[in-house]
Amino acid sequence: MIKAIILGFGNVGQHLYHAFSKTSKIDVIQIYNRSQINFSEGFQTNFTTEITQLKEADIYIIAVPDDTIKVLSETLSFKNKLVVHTSGSVPISYLSDNNKKGVFYPLQTFSKNAEVDFKTIPICIEANNKEDLESLKQLGLLISENVQEINSKEREQLHLSAVFVNNFVNYLYQVGSDLLMDNSLSFDLLKPLIIETAKKLESLNPENSQTGPAKRNDLKTIENHLHLLEGSPYKELYHKLTISIQEKYNGKKL
Ligand SMILES: NC(=O)c1ccc[n+]([C@@H]2O[C@H](COP(=O)([O-])OP(=O)(O)OC[C@H]3O[C@@H](n4cnc5c(N)ncnc54)[C@H](OP(=O)(O)O)[C@@H]3O)[C@@H](O)[C@H]2O)c1
Repeated sequence: MIKAIILGFGNVGQHLYHAFSKTSKIDVIQIYNRSQINFSEGFQTNFTTEITQLKEADIYIIAVPDDTIKVLSETLSFKNKLVVHTSGSVPISYLSDNNKKGVFYPLQTFSKNAEVDFKTIPICIEANNKEDLESLKQLGLLISENVQEINSKEREQLHLSAVFVNNFVNYLYQVGSDLLMDNSLSFDLLKPLIIETAKKLESLNPENSQTGPAKRNDLKTIENHLHLLEGSPYKELYHKLTISIQEKYNGKKL
């Protein structure tokens, strides 16, 4: 039985808690959060807002915003325990030297009310010695079928790519939604297209999946789109993305 404590009960902390709770081989013996949480009735796990009141565990998982991981790890009063963070972009070295350091980065987007299937989520692990790496691998395999050893340098690149394919793409959904709303059209109309675009990646790579006026070099359509976007904050974004696609596929600029 692995005894775990989760520090920070936000998006990732809560999803990890639920994933861990599904296996009898992990016992989340305590949750720490800096502010009080209103748990639903029947919630059994010990909870504290006092960082000095942490119990003894096999692993301490810090799931707080990137900029606060370092400080939180430095406030832990114990020594030589395995303390890991869950960030894609923070190097392992940012954790305090007082404890054994590790990373347990679930490569997925987590929002509090959106369920995820942990089994398919890549868990990127890193540690400074074989024993800790093995512990993290064991922990990861209890909730996911995809646990991979990824060092801080690789993870940084992974996270950068993830920002493009997740955060930027989602922002473009927002742009699409705004443009439709201005014309009283429903975003639902675009959902089958969004789903098919993502699904296609199961059989094609992104390079071969690309379609659209920029890829085809349909200059009249592009000009018309830029005209429709006159005065819109999204005109420059359209222009830049179009140039980027044209350079990639046609070696040309608008
Ligand atoms: N969300 C994702 O999709 C995702 C995916 C993979 C990895 N990650 C990584 O997971 C970590 C947590 O992200 P998240 O999205 O779960 O964050 P989040 O939902 O914003 O949760 C942050 C948690 O940290 C606490 N917190 C905030 N500032 C703090 C401070 N100064 N000291 C102590 N606790 C503090 C918050 O407590 P209060 O309740 O008191 O505000 C909250 O419980 C980050 O390193 C992030 O890079 C996130």
